[in-house]
Amino acid sequence: MASGTGSPYKADLLSDTLTRPSEAMREAMAGAEVGDDVFGEDPTLRALEERLADLLGHEAGLFTPSGSMANQLGVRLHVKPGEELIGDSLAHVVRAELGAAAVLSGISSRTWASERGRFRADDAASLMVTGVGPYQVCTSLVVVENTHNFGGGTVQSLEEIRRARALTRERGVAMHLDGARLFNAHVASGVPVGDYGREFDTVSVCLSKGLGAPVGSVLVGSAEAMAESRVWRKRFGGGMRQAGILAAAGLYALEHNVERLAEDHARARRAAEALAEAAPGVVDLATVETNIVIADVAAAGWTSAAFVEAALAGGVRTYAVGPGAVRLVWHLDVDDAGTDVAVDVLTALLRSGPAA
Ligand SMILES: Cc1ncc(COP(=O)(O)O)c(C=O)c1O
Repeated sequence: MASGTGSPYKADLLSDTLTRPSEAMREAMAGAEVGDDVFGEDPTLRALEERLADLLGHEAGLFTPSGSMANQLGVRLHVKPGEELIGDSLAHVVRAELGAAAVLSGISSRTWASERGRFRADDAASLMVTGVGPYQVCTSLVVVENTHNFGGGTVQSLEEIRRARALTRERGVAMHLDGARLFNAHVASGVPVGDYGREFDTVSVCLSKGLGAPVGSVLVGSAEAMAESRVWRKRFGGGMRQAGILAAAGLYALEHNVERLAEDHARARRAAEALAEAAPGVVDLATVETNIVIADVAAAGWTSAAFVEAALAGGVRTYAVGPGAVRLVWHLDVDDAGTDVAVDVLTALLRSGPAA
């Protein structure tokens, strides 16, 4: 069962954004010292920004209401109107931020095809265009996502990132890390978040996904870049007042919910193994790296829409990410018992196939 969080589902694998703050997190929020952050006077918020900047190897941080805003502030910072960013075709920035880069920054985006979002420096290098004066669009930014959401929780190689950093530095191109799930990458790979973070000009991290806070992301970068982003955040409508209440949840999450991400990864793997055994070809176990499992239910004769509906009837919520692919995401509010239910319901559906 879901772990006493008020969820109506026996197991809710829709997304790791669903987590509800625990009692202890709520207490931390209630007791937070606050001030008006538009005037730079919220001590809890400042503490969170400093903590994340420090962890990620940067000078300063800026709290934002969402991961999308943190990413778009990074885009705004590095890409002038009429220039472009490049990234892989499954990246959240290009696929799920509803054209924000074009609408808010007046820029274009080009993408390369990737295998499950896996980042390769050569893909970025072959798409990058620099020094073409007034004849072609110039590339100003490479975006990397770690872990990769639509790729299925893929952890990026630090070596590939470092190769890309060397290439972009030579050509004067900036790099932004969409680290919505960077702590999952850290827990899975053992690479300190700062080792990833230092390779980028700016990094966004989400507190409201696997870390379990209700709201908020932080963008980090140089002090100068964050001062500029603070202005743009206000312009985008993201200047907040006593947001230390939210920052307290973020600080609590960093203190208590990082290492436990390993539990989500272990449960995702256990379920993936059960699905793979129930229906060969549905899950490639080599692709299960963190808290996300992509199940190719078409290999068991299902469409994703029919599978999602049948799973829901059994109390398990999942998400269709393609005509035959279903995404399952583990998080703080799915415990061992919830995982058992999910395994029972989903393997039974895979074994039975859809009703004729
Ligand atoms: C990789 C990635 N980046 C950014 C975001 C955006 O976060 P938010 O929903 O807080 O805007 C998400 C949200 O799911 C995500 O998965």
